[in-house]
Amino acid sequence: MSQDFPNCTVVDHPLVKHKLTLMRRVETSTASFRALLQEISQLLAYEAMRDLKLRDETIQTPLATMEAPVLDGKKLVLVAILRAGQGILDGMLQLVPSARIGHIGMYRDPETLMAVEYYYKVPGQLTDRDVIVCDPMLATGNSAIAALSRIKNSKPGSLRFVCLLACPEGLANLREHHPDVHVYTAAIDERLNEHGYILPGLGDAGDRLFGTK
Ligand code: URA
Repeated sequence: MSQDFPNCTVVDHPLVKHKLTLMRRVETSTASFRALLQEISQLLAYEAMRDLKLRDETIQTPLATMEAPVLDGKKLVLVAILRAGQGILDGMLQLVPSARIGHIGMYRDPETLMAVEYYYKVPGQLTDRDVIVCDPMLATGNSAIAALSRIKNSKPGSLRFVCLLACPEGLANLREHHPDVHVYTAAIDERLNEHGYILPGLGDAGDRLFGTK
């Protein structure tokens, strides 16, 4: 848990730090950025899923019968905030290929920096399911707050948020609106600039992931 932000765990493993530095570099190609995001997302997911519930199942190994742990309960739900959240979701899916998937389309109004929803499709029954919402950049926090509020209407069993980079402003805003939602991130950067971008950050995650600039 971060000292200043009790609602946040910084996954500061050397592999995560190294890969994040590669992603921040302006000269990193779209292909590398995409691959690195998938790799880091698996490491973030590992931490975000640490307390998933298990139950014992009787299995047969080639040599003996044993009680062995398997994930308990209904399938996990991963929700990507479009469009950059898809990059994190793709990485996490490699760890939990049978997870159910949701998408929430949000864009930031460039004037107000408030989140505007344009798409919402999540699995029908979220009750009792563990839900992880993904978006690489927790900047103002407005999109994350809107997405989490929307999902809470469906009463999920638990709700977590995974991002690549956070900043103090976004974490404080998220905590004010959703004190019950824990955030997992690779780093907490210095601050937001006047356009709502994280500094030093890595630029526009969507553009870097999809090569649109
Ligand atoms: N979204 C991004 O892609 N980058 C930022 O720095 C902030 C929001």
